[in-house]
Order: sequence, then structure tokens, then C-alpha cells
Amino acid sequence: MNYSPPPGMGPAFGPGHTHGPGEELPPLPPEYLVKRPRRLRSHPQLRRLVRETHLTRDDLLLPLFVVEGTNVRDEVKSMPGVYRESLDKLGETVKKVEQLGIPGVMLFGIPATKDPEGRSAWSPEGIVQRALEQVERSAPSLLRVADLCFCEYTDHGHCGVLTDAGDVDNDATLENLELQALALADAGAQVVAPSGMMDGMIGSIRTALDEAGYFDVSILSYAVKYASGFYGPFRDAADSAPAFGDRSTYQMDPANAIEAMRELELDLEQGADMVMVKPAMPYLDILRAVKDRAKVPVCAYQVSGEYAMIKAAGSKGWIDEQRVMLESLLSIKRAGADFMLTYFAREVAKLVP
Ligand code: PBG
Repeated sequence: MNYSPPPGMGPAFGPGHTHGPGEELPPLPPEYLVKRPRRLRSHPQLRRLVRETHLTRDDLLLPLFVVEGTNVRDEVKSMPGVYRESLDKLGETVKKVEQLGIPGVMLFGIPATKDPEGRSAWSPEGIVQRALEQVERSAPSLLRVADLCFCEYTDHGHCGVLTDAGDVDNDATLENLELQALALADAGAQVVAPSGMMDGMIGSIRTALDEAGYFDVSILSYAVKYASGFYGPFRDAADSAPAFGDRSTYQMDPANAIEAMRELELDLEQGADMVMVKPAMPYLDILRAVKDRAKVPVCAYQVSGEYAMIKAAGSKGWIDEQRVMLESLLSIKRAGADFMLTYFAREVAKLVP
């Protein structure tokens, strides 16, 4: 086809081409500047079209802390905006969470009394059991997820029963985890989330649930959970700091990535329906590796220390808190999380579709 330029204009391309009458075009850029990624950033609507990752309310699960008593709503000092609430206050809170369009809550309980085994964890009157019933009454459409572990319930603060030598007895703890799982399912938990890093815990819990007919109760395994300093503020919130030693004989060494793949594989073999990586932001490489291998949904837990750092720097005016909050969660999602446990869930839900 013959193209003839309008009168007064030179050829459309190449030498002699002009913008308008008489105006010479700048010379063609060198080869390496023909491809310019900035072009796609040049307009806000174009940036919207090419954006790869989006945060939505569908990504969010909110952790909540429940205590005994009535009319209690104490803010956790190291976690501004996070409260320890009694059951009556919890009822009000979850109604608001439901209205915000957040899919569900994960419950942590602080019991009135603790003992070496953590027996209140499997009592029908246990704090989380009653909290599950409260959530069902107050906000029936919310998904009820319960953390499944003993550190909040034992007087020594470790995640199971102890051997004479003071280490956590793996296999004896499994039996108690089964009891706790059944108590949580009896109280209406739809998902249980074992976080104690005991070997074989997923298989034991699955078998116990199935034998009791709870085929539809899902297991969200804290499959890859590191022995992390980032849990500090949570232990204040949940009264769950170990009385002696640390958790390095059961939680993973932060230096290890291959071992994380082994933990993942074992939990999938044992029937985990969903798997979690925890903490989130310091372990984005692990999250990506898990996402690439697991054919089940992957969750990431943006833990208390991650939250506290953003809140603290934000309150000092050192960072733009809202911007960093959204960026941190976006990065976790981009790295492979299908959904996220975050103390920011309510704040985020107000800002995203
Ligand atoms: C209980 C548990 C912990 C967290 C979740 N479940 C604490 C721990 O392992 O010491 C930490 C959550 C957070 O830091 O936000 N095993």
C-alpha cells in the first residue's frame, strides 16, 4: 500500500521524517534504548492494567486473642491495635470483622489456669472452645479457624508435655494434640491449625478427626515454622513465652531451606489441606519455594514482630505506615501466599476491594 504523507509533512519513518511542518525528529535512539520499560509506567491507568498482583479482602485471615472474664479489652503493649478480649467483647469484634468482608478469624486463647500438660486445651469449657461458640453465635458467616498448640496452656510455656530431661516429648504430645483437635471440632472449628512443629502431628490429628466423623474439618498446617525472634510480641499477647530454654528443638533453624521442603513433603503426605510458612517477610524465599512445590493452598503468617516493627516505625513517623503495611502484604502475596494471617487485616480490608 502506498502511503503518502499529508501535505507539508515528510515521510512517516526514517530520514526526512518530521513531526510537523518543517520540524526535524531527533535521531533514532541506540539499540539498547528501543526497549523502554518506563513506557508502561507512564500513565496511572496503564499501570493498573499491567499490575500483576492485587490485594483483596479474600486474602485475609485475622488472628484474635481471647481471655477469661467479662468486659475485658486490653491492648497488647507491643502490638498497638491488637487486643486481648473477653468473650462478650469478642462477640462485638467479630460482628465488625464480618461486616468488613474478612473471610475468617484464627483464635488464640489465654486460659485462666495452666498446668504441665495444658489440660484446659481439650476441655469442652476451654477458652477457645467457648470463643468458637461465641463467634458462631455473633458472626455465623465467618470461617472459624483455631490454632492448635499447647504453649498458651502449659505452665512451662513449651508446645507440649516435657520429658524428664526437659525437652518436649513428641509422641506423648501427639496424643494431647488429638484430644485438643477433637475438642475444637466439637466446639465448631472448621479449620484447625497445628502450630507446634511436632513430627507426625498432621497424620495423628487427621486420623483422630476422621475417626470421630469430622471429615470436613480442614487442617491448615504450620508446616514450615521457624524458631524466630519475630514472635516476641505474640508471647506477650498470649502469655506463652517458654519459662526456660527456647523452641529450637522443635521449631526450624532460620538458616535452613532444604529442610523446609522436607517438612512440607511430610505434612502433605500426612494429609495437610493447606500449609503455612511463618514468619512471612523474612522468609519470602521459602514461601516461593513452597508455592512452587505444594499443590495445596499456601498461607503466610505475617507475625507479631513484623506487625510491631511497622507500627513502631510508623508511629515515630519514620515510615509511611499505611503504605508499608500494604507493600509488605503485597510482597508476601507476590512471593506465593494464597492468603495471609495478619494483624493488619481490618485496616487492609477498609482499603482494598
Ligand atoms: C503457638 C504460636 C506462636 C505464634 C503462633 N502460634 C508462638 C510461638 O511459636 O512461640 C506466633 C504468632 C506471632 O508471632 O504473631 N505455637
